[in-house]
Amino acid sequence: MSVRRLAEDQFQPATFAFNAENTAFEAATIAKYPEGRQQSAVIPLLMRAQEQDGWVTKATIEYVAEKLTMPYIRVLEVATFYTQFQLKPVGTRAHIQVCGTTPCMLRGSDELIKVCQHKIHHDPFHTNAEGTLSWEEVECQGACVNAPMVIIFKDAYEDLTPERLEQIIDEFEAGKGADVPVGPQNGRHLSAPIGGALTLLDDIKPVRTNLDPKPEPAAEAVSVPPADAGHPKDTAPETDKSLKTPVTAPAASAANAKEAEKGESTTTTTSTKPAAKRGSKAEGAPAAEGAVAGEDKPKRTRKAKPEGEA
Ligand code: FES
Repeated sequence: MSVRRLAEDQFQPATFAFNAENTAFEAATIAKYPEGRQQSAVIPLLMRAQEQDGWVTKATIEYVAEKLTMPYIRVLEVATFYTQFQLKPVGTRAHIQVCGTTPCMLRGSDELIKVCQHKIHHDPFHTNAEGTLSWEEVECQGACVNAPMVIIFKDAYEDLTPERLEQIIDEFEAGKGADVPVGPQNGRHLSAPIGGALTLLDDIKPVRTNLDPKPEPAAEAVSVPPADAGHPKDTAPETDKSLKTPVTAPAASAANAKEAEKGESTTTTTSTKPAAKRGSKAEGAPAAEGAVAGEDKPKRTRKAKPEGEA
C-alpha cells in the first residue's frame, strides 16, 4: 500500500466552497445526525466535495473540519485512509481506475494497464499533457464475473479488451463519455453467457410423477346415525322420551296390583285413587292424607305385619 499524502502546494487552491446545490446537500446531510454527532457527516461531505472539484484539496479538508467542529487532523486521517478520495488532481474528463486483482489479472488487466500507460501517462496519478485524463490501479470492484473491467467516475465498463478500452478512452477524451454504454462491452447481458443460454436447452417435459397432484380417492358412502349427544343418559321416568307426560298415579297403582296378584300380602299405605294432576285436586274428593299438591311419584309399599304382632 502506497503512502497517501496531500498534493504539493503548487497544486493546492487557496480556498474551497460548495456551490449552491451542494450547500443545500451539506445542510441536509448535517441535519440527519443528532446534536453533538455532526462529525458523522465527514465522509459524505468529503465525497461531495470530490465530485464537485474532482479531488480533495487541503482547503476542502479545512472547510469540512470547521463545518463539523472537528480537529483538522481527524478529517485529514479520514481523507488519507480511504483510497476512494483522490488527493491529487485527476483528469478533468476521466480518471480511469483499472482493477488489477487476481480475476481481472487472469483475464488480461495487465494489457489494460499498458493501454493506460500508452495513451495517458506512464505512471498512475499523473494526468496527460492536456490534463484531461489520468489513471490508477485499484483492488477488486466486485464485478469479477465480467473481468477485466475499469471504473470511470461511478460507472463500470466490463468484459474489456485492450482495443475496446482504447476506444472508450478516446470517447472520453473527445468529451463524449456520456455516450459510452456502461456494463459489459462484448454484447452479453449482464453476466449471462455470450450468445445466449448454453444449458437447459432441451424441450423435454420433465417427469413430474411425484409432483403432479394425485386424484382424490372416491369417498365411500358412510351412513352416520344422528348424534345422541344432547339426550340424557339415564332412564329415569322423568326423562323417558317415550312418554309424553310424567309418570302418573294410575301407573303406580297398576304396579301394586301386579304385586298383589303374585300372592304377596301387601298393604298400601297410600291412596289408590288416581293421583291428581300436578297443582290440582280431584273434584268432590278430599285430598288424601299426606298428599301434597303436585306429588305424582309412585308411592312406596311395605309388607303388612302378620296378625297378632303388635
Ligand atoms: S477482481 Fe476485478 S472486479 Fe473483482
